[in-house]
Amino acid sequence: MSFPIQRPRRLRRTAALRGLVRETSLDPANFIYPLFVLHGSGVREPVPSMPGVLRFSVDTLLEEASAAFAEGVPAVILFGIPEHKDPHGSEAYDDEGVIALAVRALKKALPELVVVTDVCLCEYTSHGHCGVLDGERVLNDPTLDLLAREAVCHAKAGADVIAPSDMMDGRVGAIRTALDREGFAEIPILSYAAKYASAYYGPFRDAAESTPSFGDRRSYQMDPANAREALREVELDLAEGADMVMVKPALAYLDIIRAVRERVNVPVAAYNVSGEYSMVKAAAQDGWVDGDRLMIENLTSIKRAGADLILTYHAREAARLLTGKR
Ligand code: PBG
Ligand code: ZN
Repeated sequence: MSFPIQRPRRLRRTAALRGLVRETSLDPANFIYPLFVLHGSGVREPVPSMPGVLRFSVDTLLEEASAAFAEGVPAVILFGIPEHKDPHGSEAYDDEGVIALAVRALKKALPELVVVTDVCLCEYTSHGHCGVLDGERVLNDPTLDLLAREAVCHAKAGADVIAPSDMMDGRVGAIRTALDREGFAEIPILSYAAKYASAYYGPFRDAAESTPSFGDRRSYQMDPANAREALREVELDLAEGADMVMVKPALAYLDIIRAVRERVNVPVAAYNVSGEYSMVKAAAQDGWVDGDRLMIENLTSIKRAGADLILTYHAREAARLLTGKR
């Protein structure tokens, strides 16, 4: 039986009918809002390659996070820009480092806000790589101790979720062991499990000042051509104790999100990364696309592919749009 008996357009006739049969809906309750924090006070510094995104000092960060929270965004993920960089990224695990200060202030002012911290070394190392070096080689095992120290430092400051983004082998296990040993058995790990070596991170590296000073990240981040390997990374991270797994970037990797979703029973997160955000903003600024509609369409596709949680720079504007506050 098909046309003229079958007419799919019948269910598209009115907005109310379309709403009744809509399969996927976005909810700000699933958004995690990435924020950049630096030292100082009163800072609200625009990131030129990410229109609408700012870098905050701790005081203005509190204002931004509380505005987001009031708009229905329940969680933030923090990226730190340190005062001082060295080969071992020591501010990453300093109790007076920028992230430790920011987490303490956020949890004091907004105890209900879920504070996720990105655990990596690239923002803190003088060479911009995500691990320690031997010459131009990024060393795996010696990096694990530093990542574990960073995770414990964040947990001590009050972080609710630890999110390692470095892509060293064994880092989830090393972090889990250290957290448990230090009394943080209840703090979950959201691992950047399938993180690709992507050109979509360009604007982020401006914002976080984390561009590698030589080479690239292809010896630790994944090859964009690989899908089965993503499932292997996810399985390994779960075996090491990850509570949630992430796919990153999101839009060019919707097939990976779908494959991971079908394979695991833990929450799946997807990172709608800086380049994905900036492309929407750039095209909208030129009037080439409707930026709001593109944003919602992109976020919906990520959810439809199977993501439970979405990390996105659009979190505030999308939440406002979805709840009719704009
Ligand atoms: C640090 C990190 C990066 C991103 C999140 N954590 C950059 C990178 O790996 O170079 C990218 C986020 C984005 O582009 O929005 N390891
Ligand atoms: Zn890194």
